[in-house]
Amino acid sequence: MTTPLPPDMSNLWMPFTANRQFKAHPRLLASAQGMTYTSIDGHQVLDGTAGLWCVNAGHGRKEIIEALTQQATKLDYAPSFQIGHEDSFRAATAVAKLMPENLDRIFFTNSGSESVDTSLKIALAYHRARGEGQRTRLIGRERGYHGVGFGGISVGGISPNRKTFSGVLLPGVDHLPHTHDLAHNAHSRGQPAWGGKHFADQLENIIALHDASTIAAVIVEPLAGSTGVLVPPKGYLERLRAITEQHGILLIFDEVITGFGRLGASTASAFLGVTPDLITLAKGISNAAIPAGAVAVRRDIHDTILGASASGIEFFHGYTYSAHPMATAAILATLGIYEREGLFERARGLSKLFEDTAHRLESAQHVIDVRNLGLVAGIELRPREGAPGARAAEVFAKCFDRGVMVRYTGDTIAISPPLIITESQIEQIFGTIEAVLKTVD
Ligand SMILES: Cc1ncc(COP(=O)(O)O)c(C=O)c1O
Repeated sequence: MTTPLPPDMSNLWMPFTANRQFKAHPRLLASAQGMTYTSIDGHQVLDGTAGLWCVNAGHGRKEIIEALTQQATKLDYAPSFQIGHEDSFRAATAVAKLMPENLDRIFFTNSGSESVDTSLKIALAYHRARGEGQRTRLIGRERGYHGVGFGGISVGGISPNRKTFSGVLLPGVDHLPHTHDLAHNAHSRGQPAWGGKHFADQLENIIALHDASTIAAVIVEPLAGSTGVLVPPKGYLERLRAITEQHGILLIFDEVITGFGRLGASTASAFLGVTPDLITLAKGISNAAIPAGAVAVRRDIHDTILGASASGIEFFHGYTYSAHPMATAAILATLGIYEREGLFERARGLSKLFEDTAHRLESAQHVIDVRNLGLVAGIELRPREGAPGARAAEVFAKCFDRGVMVRYTGDTIAISPPLIITESQIEQIFGTIEAVLKTVD
């Protein structure tokens, strides 16, 4: 038998990737099962990141594969406009059951970016339907990540994602300050003690500047992941909720990574006891077996928009693949696994050990902060002089070589394993990082 030739890599333009470096030293995965990836050369790698924060039930789940196979055979596709299929309704009901009470109207999308843009449009449509169409301003947060649509990068706060497009971002957007404060909160276990009121009260200044009557919505990640694991200080989200409520401004939680068990509950909202008006979802909703996303909407927001038009289409928005039959099959199978296996409770049960193990790294070389919540940890390294991100990139590469997949953003290593992780695998992840840090300049 001849060995297959390596693929020509020139045609693929890879997303959020240093294409030239990657293609010079590719890292290619061939298969995955449970907690483990296998690379094309047979190297086994423990998945410390649930893929990209999305494979919450672990890889290769038989129930999801069977559901997808059956669905592909039975109904490969159904138009999503003016026609439905039964599973789209079943999937909406199943998602609604996991959302806070009253956020039970579900709009399906295919990704987190689409969920974010959809949620912003719903916010605008709601105010217009109530006769407050002048509320068009959207408030995001510095360091926020809300995907890559024009809405998402406008309310997002990550400069490299925005600067190329800065002239054409959505108008009328403002940003809260981010909540990362090492001077007060370094090495916090769980929610940091300092700054909740201080940071949230900045919203009052933004409201004073623009006037509440111009502001449609505030969107934040309850726990910011992609920007380097920023855990909300105690009282912060509660205060944002109180201020937005007081001024008739909608609060959107972007739960694309925190939804479906990441913190040890169905949502961050449930875990932290703060209920927004809309929740954006994706990733863990289908265990990433097929692209899927959703927005959970407060019932009366939905009803107001529907009630505003006498007849016909009430909301001019949707995707060819909203509630795609394959997506709804995967969603139903995935949510069934979460429930049967009690994976959210499992995550909650493991989170203390996860926290203790992560915080062992506080005294490791180069580490300036360890932070965590649920099954998420961030380990921030002191950047190399003149080469930000280089140290974390080296840790990532060395961990991969030693059989553990971590992620890095800037100089923060992020860990967010599948919820099926075992105690010994938690040890393996942090033990490997600890060992690697000793070898890094
Ligand atoms: C909070 C948040 N919102 C939105 C997105 C975008 O999701 P997608 O890449 O599926 O468009 C992400 C992706 O990481 C995310 O973390």
